[in-house]
Amino acid sequence: MDLVVCIDGPGGSGKGTISRFVAEKLGWHILDSGALYRVLAIAAIHHGVELDNEAAITLLAAHLDVQFTFEQDKGSRVILEGEDVSEQLRTEETGTAASKVAALPDVRQALLKRQQAFLQEPGLVADGRDMGTKVFPNAGLKIFLTASAVERAGRRHKQLKDMGNSVSIATLSKAIEERDERDRRRSTSPLIMADDAIEIDTTSLGIREVVEKVMILVEQRFPESCSLS
Ligand code: DC
Repeated sequence: MDLVVCIDGPGGSGKGTISRFVAEKLGWHILDSGALYRVLAIAAIHHGVELDNEAAITLLAAHLDVQFTFEQDKGSRVILEGEDVSEQLRTEETGTAASKVAALPDVRQALLKRQQAFLQEPGLVADGRDMGTKVFPNAGLKIFLTASAVERAGRRHKQLKDMGNSVSIATLSKAIEERDERDRRRSTSPLIMADDAIEIDTTSLGIREVVEKVMILVEQRFPESCSLS
């Protein structure tokens, strides 16, 4: 059993926020796998590569020059080929582009080992779509977060607004729905709950309540890690 907590689910289900809190409580590493697909999509756009050009994007994925850094005044930053792409990373357009490159099987294979390399002592919280089904099948705990479509669109809208991006809820709902459909229907590692995952519907739950639920499961599965933290 690997010391990994997988937190999978559709966009806006709260994976990113919950993963950060759980990783902080445990003092474990964190993998935001969506950020890798997002940064790859930005790299493809920067290099003028069509988002369905599997061979070219696979090559980009294999040589992706990205750094995840932290700056005191600005917080977490993502540096692609020396350029700070942190703002572009979080837009819904980038999310849609990421979902397109993520549908290409060879691209997923090219990013697999890079994701698995995030598993280091003392443990890892991994956020994504296929963490429990494909990237960390032996994870000690697999969570699948869900929330109603309306709630997820509302959360994304608030998130984008807080970052200064104004986009209508209607446009956002449509984009999220299309993205989820693409993520669910792709042939390789589709967005699907692992057989051994535990589902938590977060529609009417606050962040703290979800974190508490996850931490109870973490304590059951990893009692030794929790007694140390
Ligand atoms: O979690 P996110 O919104 O940052 O993810 C962006 C897209 O990347 C998502 O629509 C599908 C893809 N993705 C994926 O296919 N597999 C992952 N493990 C994470 C993200």
